[in-house]
Amino acid sequence: MCGIVGYIGNNDCKEILLKGLEKLEYRGYDSAGIAVVNNYDVEIFKEQGRIRDLRNIVDWNLATTTGIGHTRWATHGKPSKRNSHPHQSATGRFTIVHNGVIENYEQLKKQYLAHVHFVSDTDTEVIVQLVEHFVNEGNDTFKAFQETLKLLHGSYAIALIDNENQDTIFVAKNKSPLLIGLGDNFNGVASDAMAMLHVTKRYLELKDQEMVIVTKSQVQIFTLNGEKIIRKPFIAELDVSDMEKGTYSHYMLKEIEEQPYVVRKIIQKYQNDTGTIHIDPSIIGELMNSDRIYIVACGTSYHAGIVGKYLMEKVAGIPVEVHLASEFAYNRPLLSKKPMFIFISQSGETADSRTVLVQMKELGYPALTITNVPGSTLSREADYTLLLHAGPEIAVASTKAYTAQIAVLAIIAEAVALGLGRELNIRMIHELAIVANAMEEISNRKIEFEQVAIDYLSSDRSSFFIGRGLDYAVCLEAALKLKEISYIHSEGFAGGELKHGSIALIEEGTPVFALATQENVNLSIRGNVKEVAARGAKPCIISMESLAMEEDEIVLPQVHKLLTPLISVIPMQYIAYYAALHRGCDVDKPRNLAKSVTVE
Ligand code: F6R
Repeated sequence: MCGIVGYIGNNDCKEILLKGLEKLEYRGYDSAGIAVVNNYDVEIFKEQGRIRDLRNIVDWNLATTTGIGHTRWATHGKPSKRNSHPHQSATGRFTIVHNGVIENYEQLKKQYLAHVHFVSDTDTEVIVQLVEHFVNEGNDTFKAFQETLKLLHGSYAIALIDNENQDTIFVAKNKSPLLIGLGDNFNGVASDAMAMLHVTKRYLELKDQEMVIVTKSQVQIFTLNGEKIIRKPFIAELDVSDMEKGTYSHYMLKEIEEQPYVVRKIIQKYQNDTGTIHIDPSIIGELMNSDRIYIVACGTSYHAGIVGKYLMEKVAGIPVEVHLASEFAYNRPLLSKKPMFIFISQSGETADSRTVLVQMKELGYPALTITNVPGSTLSREADYTLLLHAGPEIAVASTKAYTAQIAVLAIIAEAVALGLGRELNIRMIHELAIVANAMEEISNRKIEFEQVAIDYLSSDRSSFFIGRGLDYAVCLEAALKLKEISYIHSEGFAGGELKHGSIALIEEGTPVFALATQENVNLSIRGNVKEVAARGAKPCIISMESLAMEEDEIVLPQVHKLLTPLISVIPMQYIAYYAALHRGCDVDKPRNLAKSVTVE
């Protein structure tokens, strides 16, 4: 989703800003722009499309050491140059970039700005016009900014330049992520540490409803009531090289192939010297004491949560409910007496999940966040965090985070089971090591999966993924992966459910991918395959070595039956990748999607 970067210092900032915006491209965007200070003037360059288009219109001869930049993912108003940020106040004195959604912008417009001519359809323009409105009433910029922020309902991360006060960037945050990057003789603003890693690793976290005055030598944080806040900086533990594509053609391919290393890293991080599982005992204590675990997440993380439910219930014996955050937030189910919440989020910034976390914290329930991003909002605001250690996931389609989430959930399940004194016939560390090897073996067969993509997905037909139990959970993820990057309509179904309606969609040649990795439902799912084949479908069966039959297209190496999602998803990721590639799609940045969904 939208990204912000800002710089104030001694060096020319155009390249710093554009490089920062390029680092934010992975979040998804449809237009981009920068505003730079130049001799008592502010120059704006903005363009619909990619950062490379923006680069072409920037005046590279302009000397400037202060500026703000933005990538926009349209919410209010179509993607267009007119609606892209930065936006300016009527006189051009104030220039703003903003992430988030101002819910009451129409009301504010009517109440305070009826006489002002607006040039965009955005909610953002209201903010910058309001600042000017309060300055026109006789306030200084700080006060006008403060008064404006007090009126805003919704989410915002803001960087604002005042043409008459060019040695300052005014910054504010509520619900949308924003960090201050600290340097020697410069400071910066970034919605994600990645956007400033090329200039600094030192950051100051901002909390909701805080405003900040950033100059090249000083950063002052205030509450909206003007009280000063002192906060220690932190060092971002990110490596610039982790964010490079290297020799891979796409981040998605790189990330698919990193999965064996990620699983090994998780083993290493969650095991102690004696080779047994090591997790903060208070997390395990909270889970053991709860009478029901509620997993809350969105998209791929939600799909990992469904696998987590199986693991937690089968291994630890605690009942688990899995909920979509966007539903839970407004239709809360009846809760048990001692619930424990697990939020799963690759980015740790997903607004829907965060809404639920805030609600549950208000009710006093314990919460654990499982995330890939240390210091992210969901991590900071939960009682506990467990990290995925997957390294930055740049491709919009999540791959390695999904398998990392399942691996961490598997480890938690064993730790809770051991805490509860349950008899176990699975040792996760040992089984995950087998999984990592199997993942590597599968990656070596990618040509096979490319051929499957060509054979089954070259036309525009809808496609289906069927499975039962754990395989059904993977089918949901496989269908999401295919549709989001190749735009082929695809759905995941429980094998037994198909004949209750959806089988009507099967026609001559419809591709149906069937997962058969679970012994207890092996024959039933194969029966479901026969049902669709009899109606003309073109089935592609993916099975496990021990269950393989002659007609199977892909046979996977054997792993523990509870951990099959970790490997059965990989051919599905490759198939989606190659289907998208052969259709000429932008694999890493699919249309309409954002990596970090920071609006509800
Ligand atoms: C799909 C995908 C999304 C995310 C979802 C939640 O490939 O990446 O469905 O899983 O937007 O994001 P996080 O995990 O960051 O909360």
